[in-house]
Amino acid sequence: MRIIRTKNYEEMSRKAAAIIAAQVVLKPDCVLGLATGGTPVGTYKNLVEWYNAGDLDFSEVSSVNLDEYRALPVEHPESYWSFMHRNLFDHVNIDPAKINLPDGNNMDAEAECARYDAVIKAMGGVDLQLLGIGHDGHIGFNEPSDAFDLGTHCVDLTEETIEANKRFFNSKDEVPRQAYTMGTGTIMNARKVLMIVSGRDKAEIIKKAFFGPVTPQVPASILQMHPDFVLVADEDALSLV
Ligand code: PGA
Repeated sequence: MRIIRTKNYEEMSRKAAAIIAAQVVLKPDCVLGLATGGTPVGTYKNLVEWYNAGDLDFSEVSSVNLDEYRALPVEHPESYWSFMHRNLFDHVNIDPAKINLPDGNNMDAEAECARYDAVIKAMGGVDLQLLGIGHDGHIGFNEPSDAFDLGTHCVDLTEETIEANKRFFNSKDEVPRQAYTMGTGTIMNARKVLMIVSGRDKAEIIKKAFFGPVTPQVPASILQMHPDFVLVADEDALSLV
């Protein structure tokens, strides 16, 4: 595990974007595992800037997103499909046929999870997986539990996650209660994992996840065992370690 300490959110975003850009330059047909949430917005902004400057080409890149809300219309502004298009896909030359997210509108959870795992397998796995971390240590929507989930599965969001995500909706009642998420096993199988974290409010969980025991009660802690895990975090997020 490597830790890259940055001064602030902007520097975290630039460093993370540089790592993703290097992946795209070195392997133009790579598989990028992508994340949503507040944290990656700045990272995607840098990638769009470098694409506009002619420094990046996404034409051969494939993407798989970590997760998607269940039963939220895909065109809803807070679906992860919408988030990804608004923040990245609409602004670069990625081939729409190479974009993959779980289909939150397929209500047959078993079939949808099996389909998504098959998609990831057919692509040969993930080259670089981008991750944020929840205050409870979740990665994707892998919430604290008694065991690590291997493949894509349907989850009930915890009260803490619903609370954290209500800022994106008009009210807490509008936050979907379930999601499909890539499993911890798939994340661990990514050849490189890049986590980005910013802010004092994440300092406790960073200490717990990466300087405490590996346990499914803190899902991100398993990344301590990943052979190529890079944590890019700002001083505030690293203030307790
Ligand atoms: P955030 O979410 O980037 O909005 O803090 C991170 C996460 O829940 O994984």
